[in-house]
Amino acid sequence: MSLFANLPEAATDAAFALIEAYKADTFPLKVDLSPGFYRDEDARPWILPSVEKAKQDLLNDSTADHEHAPILGHEALIHSAQRLVFDATCEDTATIASIQTIAGTGANHLGALFLAKARCPRTVWISDPSWINHQEIWQLVDSGIERQTYPYFDKQSFIIDFEGTISTLNLKAREGDIVILHGCAHNPTGLDLTKDQWKAVADVCEEKKLVPFFDVAYQGFATGDLAEDAWSVRHFFHNTSLEMLVAQSFSKNFGLYGERVGVLHVVCRTEIARSKATNMLSRLSRAEITTAPINGAKIVAKVLGDTNLKQQWQNDLLHMSHRMKSMRKRLVDALLKRQTPGAWEHILTDIGMFSMTGLQPDQIQTLKERYHIYLLPSGRISITGLTEHNVEYVAEAFHKVTVATKFV
Ligand SMILES: Cc1ncc(COP(=O)(O)O)c(C=O)c1O
Repeated sequence: MSLFANLPEAATDAAFALIEAYKADTFPLKVDLSPGFYRDEDARPWILPSVEKAKQDLLNDSTADHEHAPILGHEALIHSAQRLVFDATCEDTATIASIQTIAGTGANHLGALFLAKARCPRTVWISDPSWINHQEIWQLVDSGIERQTYPYFDKQSFIIDFEGTISTLNLKAREGDIVILHGCAHNPTGLDLTKDQWKAVADVCEEKKLVPFFDVAYQGFATGDLAEDAWSVRHFFHNTSLEMLVAQSFSKNFGLYGERVGVLHVVCRTEIARSKATNMLSRLSRAEITTAPINGAKIVAKVLGDTNLKQQWQNDLLHMSHRMKSMRKRLVDALLKRQTPGAWEHILTDIGMFSMTGLQPDQIQTLKERYHIYLLPSGRISITGLTEHNVEYVAEAFHKVTVATKFV
């Protein structure tokens, strides 16, 4: 008998399973509303023009080689990443320990590992619902750290349960607990806190001595505005004395999904603490990946370090966020025109690529089996799967499944 025969069964990843099922589907009108990837007007992957230009420039660089990056990562990437997310001056960065990671997932993982080793926290607070990997990462990093949720989403009215969020943190969180916060474009709800609400969360974190851990996977991609999408992080950084972590991903905003580019920042507030944190991060990362991949890092650094390319990139971000906004409107118009049962108007004001539909598991199953439309069992849709060619088909299918269920 194998040493591994009694391993517990792990559930297959719902999102990746759907991607495979969609690929295997030969129906010509199939629609993929499941993945967290940007798709263009024809539902195809899109290479950002700024990224394409940077790639060409890098290919023409005859001095380029395939040597390792330093343990902390590609230096130009790290500096640009700090400025981008914190709007940090050189003086500010003297107390931030930053390290390149395997995209946003790696930054979340390394951050969790770092906190587990450095702080032994009792509890990590995760929004309900949240990006599915938050629970999994913390569970695997240290199952002794209690994972608790704060109620973020009011499923009946498709709004944020702000009272629930604040009162849970106020009444139940204890000093030293970690709070995972989505910097912008909350996944899966598409609902972000207002600036006043962010200020209130920052106040609770300060009063209760909690440790915020921001997950920033959509800066610029969410609204097209880099400053707006980083407002929450910048508020905590500039207007509080909180020490905190930021997991920064360049997957969505650069369309560099498979290149795996990310940075983890630990805001320490003193230079001595920064040096200690840097040391610990280097050690943990060395034991896991030695050094991070260089190709995507060079592309991001090139774009952020060149005024013209950065301008082009901001135009690319606007292009993506405008397309998502216009698809939101097309879908809602098509559903309202049909008087489709359900609450749809929030889709217009949700931010980023996701929205919750309220569709039920049996309806989602019918959408897949009868209409070849794929979405996650939670009812989350990815707006980028919608195009001018398929939006009426999708609305009609949503209409049919909701009407059929209503009159059963
Ligand atoms: C909130 C959130 N964090 C992190 C990630 C991971 O991104 P990456 O592909 O950079 O690992 C995602 C991706 O869907 C996400 O939605």
